[in-house]
Amino acid sequence: MITEQENNLLTQTGPLTPCGELMRRYWQPVALSEELPYGAPLKVRIFGEDLVLFRDDQGRPGLLGLHCSHRGTDLSYGRVEDGGLRCVYHGWLYDVCGKVLEQPGEPGGGANRHEIRHLAYPCQEAGGVIVTYMGPGEPPLLPNYEFLAAPAEYRTVVKIFHNCNYLQSNEGNIDPVHLSFLHHFLSEAEVARLRTVPGGNATDNTLLGNDIAPTIEVEVQDFGVRIYTLRNAGPDKLYLRVTNFVLPNLSAFGGSTVGDGYAVHWHVPIDDTHHWKYIFMFSRTKPLDSELRNKSRSELTADYRMTRNAANRYQQDRDSMKTKTFTGMGFNFQAHDAFATESQGSVEDRTNEHLVSSDKAIVAARKLLLNAIQAVNEGREPPHVIRDSKLNHFPHLVVVSELIHASTDWKEHTKKLETAS
Ligand code: FES
Ligand SMILES: [Fe+2]
Repeated sequence: MITEQENNLLTQTGPLTPCGELMRRYWQPVALSEELPYGAPLKVRIFGEDLVLFRDDQGRPGLLGLHCSHRGTDLSYGRVEDGGLRCVYHGWLYDVCGKVLEQPGEPGGGANRHEIRHLAYPCQEAGGVIVTYMGPGEPPLLPNYEFLAAPAEYRTVVKIFHNCNYLQSNEGNIDPVHLSFLHHFLSEAEVARLRTVPGGNATDNTLLGNDIAPTIEVEVQDFGVRIYTLRNAGPDKLYLRVTNFVLPNLSAFGGSTVGDGYAVHWHVPIDDTHHWKYIFMFSRTKPLDSELRNKSRSELTADYRMTRNAANRYQQDRDSMKTKTFTGMGFNFQAHDAFATESQGSVEDRTNEHLVSSDKAIVAARKLLLNAIQAVNEGREPPHVIRDSKLNHFPHLVVVSELIHASTDWKEHTKKLETAS
């Protein structure tokens, strides 16, 4: 349980809010690359700000204030031409930096146009997403995460709309116990079938189901929190999972689907009661097959909304709860997670929680976030803002999902993987 004031601090990310200030110190995804073909500007909302994203005629992404600096017309209806985005009301032309290139209705093209600087945020494109920096001063380096740097055939990314605050979903990622319940499949036949399907979710189902009260340990790292989860897995065997909360709003964990890579969920606030969950998956050694790519979009509409949602009670089926799945909501983990987090409310009231020992990673992550918010408040740089290229690699961001011998020193085992990756 935390106080109302702490809950507000952690969940409010609009302009000038303390957590909003923190979030703006990091590069953040603002759209999928696939959403931004040349010539079609995209209206976006991020951290409570209404903006327009477009590509100029050199393909460079630009993110501008939605409303024209002249008299406020929506620039997402604008024309992409002549090196920028042109408002269709009176033809003002903006470049990706917010410079007014033309005021064509003014004598001489607008002698004072240079005095206007339209709101603009720098953008980069990596890993199938467009990321932006909305903070003050010189942007830091874009973290050289493996999932952003992997070649296109080795990675996939999609996003899913969530009707709740970003923090609920991020806390779901670092809650190891829910894997044994929310995502549990009851039918061994179905598990066996899913195991044969590339991208099937079932590989670890038995291991996760056989020990529902795992040992959990957390370790603060410079990037966030590392979480060790150990489950008994038969004689002499332990099932070790290492998951990571990465500041300020993403998590990395092993999926049963990507072999030697891992999955990332990055929860980007649209505003305080909605967010986009960006789902990345990558492999270090082999191209991802099309079935896995399609799987990541199953039960998803063309505008990235779940077909199972609160309006249809996530299509919960009571019969299937007897024989197929714990939730009765099908076999797609994304639907389970959407249900669990959206049904906590638009913004979970954390003053009413009763946290238990298995919530220790959530407690650690909240503490880290509150400390980072305080750092920004006091004019200091928060952790994991990268400005030195020599520090822009993360071999210690280790993700593990494997069976080990019970006598293995699992911390030492994980340490060894830092250098191997
Ligand atoms: S309102 Fe955009 S050019 Fe006039
Ligand atoms: Fe989950």
